[in-house]
Amino acid sequence: MLPIRIRSLASSLMLGLGLAMGSVGALAQTADCNYIISNDWNSGLTGAIQITNTGSSSIDGWSVSWEYDANRVTNAWNTQLSGDNPYTATDMGWNGTIQPGQSVEFGFQVNKNGGGSEVPEVTGDVCSGSGGSSSASSQASSQLSSSSEASSESSSISSSAPVTGGSQCNWYGTLYPLCENTESGWGWENNESCIAPSTCSSQPDPYGIVEGGASSSASSQSSSSAPASSSSSFSSSSSSSAGGDLTFESLRNLVDFPIGVAVPAGNETNSIFDNDYEGNGQRGVITQHFGQVTAGNIMKMSYLHNERGNFTFGNADELVDWAISNNVGVHGHALVWHSDYQVPNWMQNFQGTEEEWVEALREHVSGVASHFAGRVDSWDVVNEAFVDDGYRTDSIFYQNMGERYIEEAFIAARDADPDADLYYNDFSMENGQPKFDRAMTMAEDFLQRGVPIDGIGFQFHVFIDWPSTTSMREVFSRVVDLGLKVKITELDIPVNNPYGNDYSYPDNYIAEYTDDAAQRQKVRFCQIVEAYLAEVPPAQRGGVTVWGVFDSDSWLIEQTFDNNHDEWPLLFNDDFEPKPPAQGVGDALMGMPCQ
Ligand code: G3I
Repeated sequence: MLPIRIRSLASSLMLGLGLAMGSVGALAQTADCNYIISNDWNSGLTGAIQITNTGSSSIDGWSVSWEYDANRVTNAWNTQLSGDNPYTATDMGWNGTIQPGQSVEFGFQVNKNGGGSEVPEVTGDVCSGSGGSSSASSQASSQLSSSSEASSESSSISSSAPVTGGSQCNWYGTLYPLCENTESGWGWENNESCIAPSTCSSQPDPYGIVEGGASSSASSQSSSSAPASSSSSFSSSSSSSAGGDLTFESLRNLVDFPIGVAVPAGNETNSIFDNDYEGNGQRGVITQHFGQVTAGNIMKMSYLHNERGNFTFGNADELVDWAISNNVGVHGHALVWHSDYQVPNWMQNFQGTEEEWVEALREHVSGVASHFAGRVDSWDVVNEAFVDDGYRTDSIFYQNMGERYIEEAFIAARDADPDADLYYNDFSMENGQPKFDRAMTMAEDFLQRGVPIDGIGFQFHVFIDWPSTTSMREVFSRVVDLGLKVKITELDIPVNNPYGNDYSYPDNYIAEYTDDAAQRQKVRFCQIVEAYLAEVPPAQRGGVTVWGVFDSDSWLIEQTFDNNHDEWPLLFNDDFEPKPPAQGVGDALMGMPCQ
């Protein structure tokens, strides 16, 4: 279903109305306030209110209100929402300033409550510049709700990329600078992502090149290397990619908790900062669909602290700064992890007493967490400390400090960054017993003794047929009952299960991404997110993160399937087009059935 866009003509009507009311001259703030229905299904819808500064000076802070007959808001994002019909939405600080010609947009989900898809009038001091609830211009908005002329006009610009004059690119609701030196696709210039004019102008209405916030007519030039994440219909035949259209514009905008993705950065293969097809394509997908990133590797121990006392933050800073400047959050991964190459040599060779080990561990955790304090949302403080039988004894940290190292890490992390949520993260807890029980026992003990912990991270490297959603729901609800947050931290679902009875490479395995495989995978992704939403109340949702942007970059291909064959465990194909599983995740987030 294509988004229905409803735009008022408040901007053009406003002048006449304002003159009639004799108040425009008193106010420099003048904005169109538009109620937009972006997705609509039987029982609910997702909507947005877009505030476009049509005046000549900046708007600094905004607040708008609206009221329904039957509909009710169930959650909202990118705004502080108060009231219970009528509702008042206020800026969040970072999106409070709207330059002339620029728009901000916040989103919400609505339960129709037996009513239709209502389009209420939007009022507020900034709306129409009348200095109060401009009922006339808002009525205009309401009256225009079914006008097809109006619906094709909106540029739906949602982000706060600074408008410095001149042309920019409206890329699925987010403004990006136009590249000066990149001929096609995405580029990286002046330390930020940009889009080549030819690529931008080939996007469908209402997107494309904008002048001062208004869409200019798009030319039909096409770009051979433009990664477009919603450009074609889902394939109806067997295909190696199965990319296609989604019924929504952005995963992240469907909910108010983080929808995240793990990314390669720094010098890694397929780094998102490479100025090539993969780098450009990933940056486009991330900024359109994800509200949080996790470094797949480059914030692990050896990457940041390869010599004692000498931290190397350059690559991680590049990622964190890029994320923040693109309005994307960061989940830190991982302060302490025993595994293989990523424990720095100085630690692997360290000879010392238990106290000296604790000191060294604290030094690492404090050094890293304090450096990123205020810039990351959360941390995996300790990763994979348990096996089914108890504490993992092959951990160098356990060997030298016993179980104590875990709480020491959490305490040091909280001291260094009091605002970040602190998670214990592990795999194979989704199916419950017995590793999950170990983690629960530890968490209960921490809570009783006041050791800081905010949540449990479930990695979710799962399969289409394992584990059951019943198990997932049970473990989620046990964490919820403890009062902790729940985060799905590393979700991926290959279509082959190397541990399943049917899999025996090379005799029997799924060698192509068939429609059937994609469909089963879509339902599975949907059911997992559905289970998460059903069991985890909003205040305890740490988010859902997918472990990688595009299929062929998945760690599973090399590390689980020994590079024997292709796999398709993620939401986007190698052309950065959304696959059916992306629709499945979106369906769950919109409260639609998994089918
Ligand atoms: O950077 C080196 C490169 O210089 C070298 O030429 C190459 C040769 O093997 O290795 C490169 O490092 C690889 C690194 O990824 C960066 O690409 C490592 O070998 C490789 O082992 C490493 O794999 C990562 C793995 O963690 C490490 O165990 C995966 O990318 C990463 O996705 C995976 O992520 C883990 C989470 O951190 C914890 N949970 C499980 C998850 C999947 O294993």
